[in-house]
Amino acid sequence: MLSTKHLLGIKYITREDIELILDTAVQFKEVINRPIKKVPSLRDITVANLFFENSTRTRISFELAEKRLSADTVNFSASSSSVKKGETLLDTVNNILSMKVDMVVMRHPAPGAHVFLSRHIDANIINAGDGTHEHPTQALLDAYSMREAIGNLEGKNIAIFGDILHSRVALSNIFCLKKMGANVRVCGPPTLIPRHIESLGVQVSYDVKDTLQWCDVANILRIQLERQDIKYFPSLREYAQHFGINRELLDSVKKDIVIMHPGPINRGVEITSDVADSKQSIILQQVENGVAVRMAVLYLLAQKRGNELTS
Ligand code: CP
Repeated sequence: MLSTKHLLGIKYITREDIELILDTAVQFKEVINRPIKKVPSLRDITVANLFFENSTRTRISFELAEKRLSADTVNFSASSSSVKKGETLLDTVNNILSMKVDMVVMRHPAPGAHVFLSRHIDANIINAGDGTHEHPTQALLDAYSMREAIGNLEGKNIAIFGDILHSRVALSNIFCLKKMGANVRVCGPPTLIPRHIESLGVQVSYDVKDTLQWCDVANILRIQLERQDIKYFPSLREYAQHFGINRELLDSVKKDIVIMHPGPINRGVEITSDVADSKQSIILQQVENGVAVRMAVLYLLAQKRGNELTS
């Protein structure tokens, strides 16, 4: 059983929680590859998917995971809601919950929005991304995909490249990989590496080739221009030249590194197409694994909910 009733961030869960989620996801991956992909596990549960920020992968992945588990689902998009008329987050969520919703999957631009909600509502909350803070199910599906590609993560060298400063994927990955016993290094331009990040137990490098030589897995992150209110590097062309991962660079490192990217990709900026689409890349496996991992999270939180209601 999970130690927590919400998934607010990887920071708040234990290594045992992570292992339970990943092991449960192995079983759900088998389910979603069957001809009949549906199981009745969440038949009595209603889930609201509340997206206050854009999403392609996470939103579709959660919806599919809920449908595969036979949950009832409702979808909310801030752009077409009464948020536009000035309704607060708490009023919006309380109105949806009064329609007897059990679980909330939410993406919100404000870091900490989920922690705030968890103090005011009874439903189980799953963080689908909060601003530049955390994206826990992305880190879980990344860990699952790494485990599938290279086995146990204990002692493995995992590098995270790119815009670490604005990335919720980076922070959740760091928490998750450190809890799983991996060695973590972040690499990018100094302006895109948060100060004091070493205090999280990670190494810092500004040398892409040296970091590729060091790592077993390269998790390459998107340059988040929409969150950059000042210039952190002169131009995208120069970023690609100095910090982008391309075929020539990868070939110069005589090592079979696993390539990952959470998406969406800026092709030709942080990664070239001949790397993103290569045999070394597991980018689409990450997306497939996302459904199984989210099924595991929903299933385990529903199990915890059932246990609390009967005790
Ligand atoms: N990886 C990820 O969170 O993608 P979306 O923004 O499309 O959900």
